[in-house]
Formats: sequence, C-alpha cells, structure tokens
Amino acid sequence: MSPAAQNQINFPCRKLSVRRKMDFDHDLASPTKSPRKETSDVVNEAEQSVRLTRSSSRRAQTPTPSIPHAVRLSPRKVHRNLFKNTVASSPAKEAPLSLMTKICSPKKAAVRGNEENHKGGALLNSPVKLKLHHPNVTSFAKARQALHTTTPSTIFCRDKELAVIENFMRPLIDERKPGSMYISGRPGTGKTACVTHILSNKTFSGKFELIFVNCMLLRTPASIFQHIAQQLDAKWNASAKEALPFLEDRLTETGPMIVLVLDEIDQMSTRDQSVLYAIFELPALKNSRLILIGLANALDLTDRALVRLQSRVNFKPVLLNFSPYSKQDIATILSQRIQEAVTEDVGNVIAPSALQYLRGKISSASGDLRKAIDIATILSQRIQEAVTEDVGNVIAPSALQYLGGKISSTSGDLRKAIDICRRAVELAETTAKKQLVLVPSNSESQNSGSVPTNKCVNIPLLCKMMASVESSAFCSANSDDMDDTPLQQKLIIVTLLVLVKMGKSKQVTLGKLHQSYSKVCSKYGVTAIDFDEFAHTCSLVESRGIVTLKKKGNTRLAPICLRLDEREVESTLKDKTLLSSILAQGSLFV
Ligand SMILES: Nc1ncnc2c1ncn2[C@@H]1O[C@H](COP(=O)(O)OP(=O)(O)O)[C@@H](O)[C@H]1O
Ligand SMILES: [Mg+2]
Repeated sequence: MSPAAQNQINFPCRKLSVRRKMDFDHDLASPTKSPRKETSDVVNEAEQSVRLTRSSSRRAQTPTPSIPHAVRLSPRKVHRNLFKNTVASSPAKEAPLSLMTKICSPKKAAVRGNEENHKGGALLNSPVKLKLHHPNVTSFAKARQALHTTTPSTIFCRDKELAVIENFMRPLIDERKPGSMYISGRPGTGKTACVTHILSNKTFSGKFELIFVNCMLLRTPASIFQHIAQQLDAKWNASAKEALPFLEDRLTETGPMIVLVLDEIDQMSTRDQSVLYAIFELPALKNSRLILIGLANALDLTDRALVRLQSRVNFKPVLLNFSPYSKQDIATILSQRIQEAVTEDVGNVIAPSALQYLRGKISSASGDLRKAIDIATILSQRIQEAVTEDVGNVIAPSALQYLGGKISSTSGDLRKAIDICRRAVELAETTAKKQLVLVPSNSESQNSGSVPTNKCVNIPLLCKMMASVESSAFCSANSDDMDDTPLQQKLIIVTLLVLVKMGKSKQVTLGKLHQSYSKVCSKYGVTAIDFDEFAHTCSLVESRGIVTLKKKGNTRLAPICLRLDEREVESTLKDKTLLSSILAQGSLFV
C-alpha cells in the first residue's frame, strides 16, 4: 500500500462533493510528480504536522491502531479484534482506501484505516502487547479549572448586551461626556462579567480612570463616598461628611473621565434613598466627568426607588436589563468554556499564517487557487471537528442540555450551573483516575490511555451531583428547611462571623478563615477538613448565597465575606447554642 493511500485514510474529504473528492483522491494517488502530486505532498506534510502539533488531542494520541479498541473493550475482545484482521480478507474489504474514505464517517475511516495497517503482516510477526495504564485525565483537569465563576476570558451568548454597554460607553469616553447607566438582572446573568469584559478588553480613544466598587463589601451605604474619595486620592483622609463635597469638587475638575462601576448597588438602598440619589446626581453636575454604571438584581430599582430621577432628563440613567439565560444558552456557555480550555484553539494548532503559506505553496504548485483554498478549509474543518469531539470527552452533550434545562427552570443562575458542572467533572476525574485502561506496551507515554468515553460526565452523574447539592443550592429558596446545614458549613459560617465581628474588615482571606476554623474544630473536638476540601465547602456555602467568595490564583488569598448579618446567620443556622458559644469565645479563634 502506498504511503499516499495510507495518508488518505486519515484525511476524508467529507465536505467536498463526491465528484471533487474523486478528483482529489486521484490526484493524490497519481504516481508522476506533477504539480498536483506536489500538492498532495504538501497536504500530507501539513496534515502530518497538524497531527504532531495536536499531541494532546485524542486523535493525535491514537497513532497506533489498537487504542480505540483498547479503551472500549475488555482485554479478551481487544485481543480478538486485533487478530481478526490477520485473516485473509475478501476482495470487498480490500477495496481501495480512497473509496472507503468516501463512504465512511471520519471515525470509521480512521478505525478501518488502522485495521488496514495491520494487514501488512506487521501484526502477525509482532503482536501488540497491551499494558494497563492510568488514563490521561488532563482534559478533566483543564475543564475543571475553566469552570470558575470569576470573569471569564470570553463572554458567550451576550452579544446584544455587550454591544449596548459598549455603545453607551464609547461616545461618552471618547467625547468626554458624563452619563449614567443602570443594569439590572437576576443573579448569575452575566452583568458583572459583561461590564468587566468591556472595560478590560475594549480600547477607547479617550482616556479614563476606572473605579470599581462592590457595594456588598461596604460597611454602610453612606461609606461609599469615603470609599470613592480614597480611590480618587489615596491621601484623602477626612470625615464621612466631607466626602460628598470633596467628590463634587474632584469630579468637576479637569482631568480624565472617571468610569465608576457600582456593583450590587441595591445594597445602598436606604429608607429615603439619599445615598442613591446623591450618587446618580453626580454625573449631572456642571462639567462632571463621571460615567456611572450601577449594577443590581432589582429590575425596577430606579423606577420604584428613584422616582425623582425619572422626571429629570439629565439625571435619568440609560436602562438595560439582562434576561435570564435559556436552557440552550447555559448549555452553550458551559460547552464553549470547556472547549476553550481542553482544546487548543484552531489558531494554536495551525497558525493562520501557516495556512496562508500553504495556500500560496499549493496555488503556485498547481496553479489552482480554488484547490489551495479548499485544502486549507478542509484542514481547518478537520481540526474543528477534533476540537468539538474533545468537549464530548469531558461532558456528554445530552448532560449539558439536561443541566441547562434544570438551571433555567429554577434560579437561572449561571454560577450554579458552572458550580454543579465543575463538581461533576471533578467526580468524573476522580473516578477516571482510579481506573486502568489497556494501551500498547510500546506506547511512548506512560499516560497515553484515553479515558473511556462512557466515563465522561453524563446525566446520571449530574443527577447524583445535583442531589448532593440539593439540600443547599436547590432548596435555598425554602429557608424553613435550612437547619439541616452540614456541620462543616455551620462552622465555616460561624467562624467567618467571628472574624468579621472581631476584625476591622468585612472580608477575610480563605487562608485566614481556614486557620481560625481549624482552631474552632480543635476546640469542639470536630475533625477539621483539609484546605482543599475547605475551599470546596466554602463554594458550597457561596452557592447558598450566604457568603461571597472571590476567585484568586492563590486560593489561600481569595477574599470571602458574609452576605448575612448576625441575626440572619442565627436564623439560617437555627443553632443558637453553637453560635453563641463560639461567639462568646471569639478571641480564641482569631
Ligand atoms: N455569557 C457568559 N459567558 C461566559 N461566562 C459567563 C457568562 N455569564 C456569566 N458567566 C460566568 O458566570 C459568572 C457569574 O456571572 P456574573 O457576571 O457575576 O453574574 P451577575 O453579575 O449577573 O450576578 C461569571 O463570573 C462568569 O464566570
Ligand atoms: Mg454581579
């Protein structure tokens, strides 16, 4: 069998019309070194290099024929399958490979192609020895890391909202005009992610200074003025009363535009709404250089609470509402985020400049530009197909749809979907690590076994995961049932309350919280969980809306703060004895 024909197996031209494909096959098989032959050489070389570059993908990991069988079949079946090919084949089975390529799916073609390789007799002379290895679980690890709830590198399914925010900000920044916008939407609809994304990824021709405040972290609504004053001038250190006049002066001085993002602005609601009014009036001052963006969950905060703003055109903020994600949105976002992490970008596998070079080379060799473009397109498509398959190796598409449906019909909070998905991936990863798969003993990497495809995250595994989170995430609306809070969670919440009460700041780092929590555990004779499990349990507490946990590269430095006050913690935990006992001895644990 000629090398050209073998290469043909791994390079099905699915997207071409049959007529064109036949021409193409013929060209590649042509023995003379015509320009067309040269073309096929270039393609083969290119494909070879693509395979080498994508060493982490499943396709790239299966250069030997037995792996696809080995990972799915019992050792006996693997053995039987490997040797059945040594039996003389019928003429039909020996049909030209190019023909097979036309009638098979790429997967089947690859398998058959691999079988064909065995027909050369190599297998008869040196039977492949199989060894048990731990499967390669890097895709799970990458997916798990990608499923975080901090600002993602790419925003999906929010093109319209991103455009509205950008179109609001761009003319104001570029033309130095003040203004305000109020963005509302239920938790986990991507409000913060979208605003942060625009401000950190878009370039504006006008200069601006950014101040981002999470109002949840303020001690009192009125402290917002001091907080902003300190951001504008690090040396500023006056009383709260002087803060607002100072801001009014500073914001009307000459200087770059100031973009002030107030996240969770509804936390600044007071009985007379004086703080919110004062804030929204700042952009309307003469010569103001303030662009204010307020984010909140309440749809009608400005209509209901800030009625006065509505009647004054200058003060009226532009409104934008984020509707909840649909089932399909949630599935798409999760899938895209996993895809970004587990697969290299097509551009990483083959650089656009390389494709360009390839086109040039082919068109100069064959004089046929159309063919050059076709080949470059096929290469991209082939890589794209592999990329899509990689997501399916981590989580089944049906499982993504199922999770999307569940979340969109309950809270619609994408954070919960991400959290459940991440934990399901973690569980699948732990299970996969314990398994052994058969791989050829001559395989270079000790870790070259792929995880069997039926071991990825599927609906039963998701159900299991949701059931375990059920008492927390899904029943959080039913606060009457909350006294079954697991002991570890109770201890974390109470320790955090102690630290906040004894310390100066509303937030502490996860490392510090773990330290104090460990002291509480030893005092009460409870086994303390290790830091990793502790961090995981904190994210469970977060999914119940009791704390806010920010992600950081170094998890120990991640800030965590309470979203409830002491009274609310008490009613949530329904365990006054434990709470008052720990609080009474607070200083022991700090
Ligand atoms: N459209 C999106 N694409 C990718 N990830 C998203 C998207 N929307 C939300 N997320 C993820 O969900 C997390 C929570 O979203 P966030 O913007 O904080 O919601 P909100 O501010 O509306 O409560 C984000 O940090 C991000 O990781
Ligand atoms: Mg937010």
